[in-house]
Amino acid sequence: MPERILAIETSCDETSVAVVEDGYKVLSNEISSQIDLHKIYGGVVPEIASRRHLKNILPVYNTALADSGLTIADIDAIAVTAGPGLIGALLTGLSFAKALSFGFNKPLVTVNHLAAHLYASFIGHPDLKLPLLALVVSGGHTELIYLEEHLKFQRIGHTRDDAAGEAFDKIARRLGLGYPGGPIIEKRALHGNETAFDFPRALAKEATLDFSFSGLKSAVINVIHRYEQRNDQVPINDIAASFQQAIIDVLTLNTLKAAQLMKVKQVVLTGGVAANGSLRKQMMTRLHQHDIKLSYPSKIFCTDNAAMVGVAAHYYLSQGLIADLDASAYANLPIDQHPR
Ligand code: KG4
Ligand code: ZN
Repeated sequence: MPERILAIETSCDETSVAVVEDGYKVLSNEISSQIDLHKIYGGVVPEIASRRHLKNILPVYNTALADSGLTIADIDAIAVTAGPGLIGALLTGLSFAKALSFGFNKPLVTVNHLAAHLYASFIGHPDLKLPLLALVVSGGHTELIYLEEHLKFQRIGHTRDDAAGEAFDKIARRLGLGYPGGPIIEKRALHGNETAFDFPRALAKEATLDFSFSGLKSAVINVIHRYEQRNDQVPINDIAASFQQAIIDVLTLNTLKAAQLMKVKQVVLTGGVAANGSLRKQMMTRLHQHDIKLSYPSKIFCTDNAAMVGVAAHYYLSQGLIADLDASAYANLPIDQHPR
């Protein structure tokens, strides 16, 4: 009998429900994005996000279940993101998941959101070989994770200040481009010159696998400021291209260093920033030169979605990690901690 997990994701500004079979087959993945709602504020407003999740969760659940062609009776377990994320947003999904678990008598599996991003790589690729190295790069995190065995995460590098996605969002906001910053900066960069500005590549020459993006952010803001002071037109496309290239350079450099250090032949690139086409392409070229394989999820599974939660839950479930109905939500949670 196939194993079917119904998964829920409400950690930030996407309300999503998915049905995942055997840890890699996505039977349905419904996502209701709140981006339009938060755009006017230039970022996610937690209170608004929670209220919108509450409104959306039942219709999104109904659609996801109908799309999967199954009924709740066919579902083996209920999975839900329980952290890290916005507490009010997480509690909406967690409470809904608990109600389903209790009402339909199904095991509850609470999932770490960062682990879910990493496990998105297994969608359609259950045969990915371990050990592997993951670069999890999202709005809130930039982490290099060594995965020797399933659910045995070892963090070998992380950002010391801003996450890469956060830097994209802040620079886009400063340039008046809107939210979220990544996709719009990527678009503008296509029409710009990535060598127009020589922005800093922090820590690149140091013996560390850590990242730092706050110096880059300040350097970009200073350049914008100088143009504005002179009443000159800000060269948005060139700034976007040069900024994006600085981020790509340090992400690819540290990923290669980490892969060589840990002697892995398989790297996965996941999280919202992994949707960036130039990053995907340059990371692929760089790693292939060293005979290292790279895989990344399709773009829809890079940004927040419930399918990745269902995949991670498959591995938690196979190790008997079932949560109680008093499970909590966590704003901060390292990838190696199972929220329960
Ligand atoms: O994983 P995600 O959906 O949510 C978090 O867990 O944070 O990631 C969202 C982040 C945002 O900062 C967004 O600007 C960034 O991912 N992002 C991108 C792209 N698409 C989304 N960054 C660069 N290029 C993109 N195409
Ligand atoms: Zn995320």
